[in-house]
Amino acid sequence: MDHNRIPPTVRQTYGAGDLSKAASFAGGFINFGDWQGIDLTAPTPEDRIHSQEQLYRRVLRAFPEPRDRLRLAEVGSGRGLGAALALREFRFAAVTGVDIHPDQVERARAVNAKALATYPDRLAYTIGAADELPFSDASLDGVYSVEAAQHFRELTGFARESARVLRPGGRLVVTTFFTAPGPDAAERLAILLASFADGLDVPHPLDTFTTALTRSGFTDVTSESIGTHVWPGLDRYLTDTVPSAHWTRHFLPAWRDGLLDYHVVTATRG
Ligand SMILES: C[S@@+](CC[C@H](N)C(=O)[O-])C[C@H]1O[C@@H](n2cnc3c(N)ncnc32)[C@H](O)[C@@H]1O
Repeated sequence: MDHNRIPPTVRQTYGAGDLSKAASFAGGFINFGDWQGIDLTAPTPEDRIHSQEQLYRRVLRAFPEPRDRLRLAEVGSGRGLGAALALREFRFAAVTGVDIHPDQVERARAVNAKALATYPDRLAYTIGAADELPFSDASLDGVYSVEAAQHFRELTGFARESARVLRPGGRLVVTTFFTAPGPDAAERLAILLASFADGLDVPHPLDTFTTALTRSGFTDVTSESIGTHVWPGLDRYLTDTVPSAHWTRHFLPAWRDGLLDYHVVTATRG
């Protein structure tokens, strides 16, 4: 993969910036979390980690049992903790974390050195892009992605590549925030949220992605809104950890105004 393809904001945010160190996150994960069932009275950093693990579990449960024969790839695996959790808790045959940023792949290998030693043939981290996946045709049973697709410049290449690497009947599970359709939502998000204004996050309407999946040969395309489990819990945690003007505090009003929502999208390779 040509490293010049990494968008400048993604290069900075996950390079020297190392977003996982920001106060909004905890434990090395970099997602907004699934707060269902977590007591929001006074959320702790441990609760924050738990919320991020729960988001992974929600995605991984979407792969059918028995899981011990399934070979998976995670796209946008960050520090690789989710891929290690997938192996440890869900007992997949193999999981390869793929990330566009070489610094993230290096961090994932260092942070998960023990897991890599425990599962030498079953866990790996490698460089690759959503629209240029480092796998041969029909070689995987599953592809998943957790809070990374908002960074992909466009989603048709990701849909096409996921279809290519999955065997017929293989499953794709993607979770992140998708935007409301139309230029108005994109413009308002750029005003509200620095991450949209500077191009780190790209406004992807949900139906753009589901249509791309169908056109790429996926069937049974479903989407579930989980915003109610993400934004109120996240914002409660942020109240105690970042100033009220911090950009991440603007996700809750953006969700309440209907400008974006968090979804889990599933699809089956036809
Ligand atoms: C918000 S982090 C999420 C990391 C991890 N999934 C988690 O939940 O902790 C997004 C990750 O996606 C990666 N990424 C961004 N654009 C990508 C692309 N086009 N292909 C593959 N990875 C990408 C970034 O480098 C970053 O590590």
